[in-house]
Amino acid sequence: MVKIAIFASGSGTNFDNIMQRVKKGVLRNIEVTALYTDQPTAACVQLGQQHGLPVHTYRPKSYVDKLAYEQDVLKQLEAEQVEWIVLAGYMRLIGNTLLDAYEGKILNIHPSLLPKYKGIDAIGKALNNGELETGTTVHYVDAGMDTGQIIAQRKCPIYQDDTKAALEDRIKSLEYELYPEVIQQIIR
Ligand code: GRF
Repeated sequence: MVKIAIFASGSGTNFDNIMQRVKKGVLRNIEVTALYTDQPTAACVQLGQQHGLPVHTYRPKSYVDKLAYEQDVLKQLEAEQVEWIVLAGYMRLIGNTLLDAYEGKILNIHPSLLPKYKGIDAIGKALNNGELETGTTVHYVDAGMDTGQIIAQRKCPIYQDDTKAALEDRIKSLEYELYPEVIQQIIR
């Protein structure tokens, strides 16, 4: 079993999807040790509890700086012997403390065809720019925002009368297939 930690800040549907696949045995040889979140009131917290997982909640602003925050997170990761970090809607840049400790072992999923539309509101930006297609990307995490090496992508069309909500649903359906596949392939 390879121990992974999932980091989320929001609705946590990718996290939930990964958990369901682990539980069904579709995603094999993976043990999710805990959910880590920087948003104690986010919906992902309740999902974590429903899955019977430890949920580690942090308030980054209560630390003197990012270094102190990440050192605290790292202590917990080490206590759980976590080998890989899987970001699933974690809305914070990973700093040197975690990058050094988990070099080449942090994955992220981003709702655009990187290198296009890095950062926030990637879906709205693709829609407003009149793109005919967009999609999702799984990549390794480095110090930049959505700049790490690309591992895999899936595309979907953008329709003429599309809404952001409809497009987001379309992209998430891709993510629910792609992220578990890549996790299974990469994490051994
Ligand atoms: C996903 O679209 C992912 O690509 C991005 O944040 C979103 C998280 O959604 N990084 P959810 O919290 O998993 O529903």
